[in-house]
Amino acid sequence: MPAKEWGTEEHAGRYLKRADDYPHRAEADAALLEQVPREAHRILDLGTGDSRVLRLLSETRPEMTGVGLDISAPMLKTARERAQSVREIELVEHDLSEPLPATAASRTAPRRESRSSSGRWRPPHSSTTPTPTVTSR
Ligand SMILES: C[S@@+](CC[C@H](N)C(=O)[O-])C[C@H]1O[C@@H](n2cnc3c(N)ncnc32)[C@H](O)[C@@H]1O
Repeated sequence: MPAKEWGTEEHAGRYLKRADDYPHRAEADAALLEQVPREAHRILDLGTGDSRVLRLLSETRPEMTGVGLDISAPMLKTARERAQSVREIELVEHDLSEPLPATAASRTAPRRESRSSSGRWRPPHSSTTPTPTVTSR
């Protein structure tokens, strides 16, 4: 599906109308949620659509901050309506074929990266460190 198709009200609306009827969706959601660590507090959702996955995650992670990126203005309009009551979700229009943008969350988040002696980036190892988690579309 070409990314630009998602920019039309018609295509986004058709997807959202059918989305809940996709077979095995609940099982797929459960499997995805199981992969996201309970202690993940900063979650980046690429191709967030109507923010469904972030909202599901926020149900069991009231402390989390979520950023949802999506290319589609109509999808993000629905996402904003549906995520209205979830305070810590930021929604950003962005084409993932471009480098990731700075978001409010990334501007305020403490820098956590560290470098090994080889100069390569390595993840922080403290178990109490909030770990950014990426979900995919
Ligand atoms: C099948 S929907 C999935 C939505 C959501 N992740 C979910 O599980 O309900 C795919 C989403 O990816 C977005 N998308 C497709 N290509 C994209 C791109 N190049 N950059 C950003 N978002 C894109 C679409 O706009 C759409 O909202």
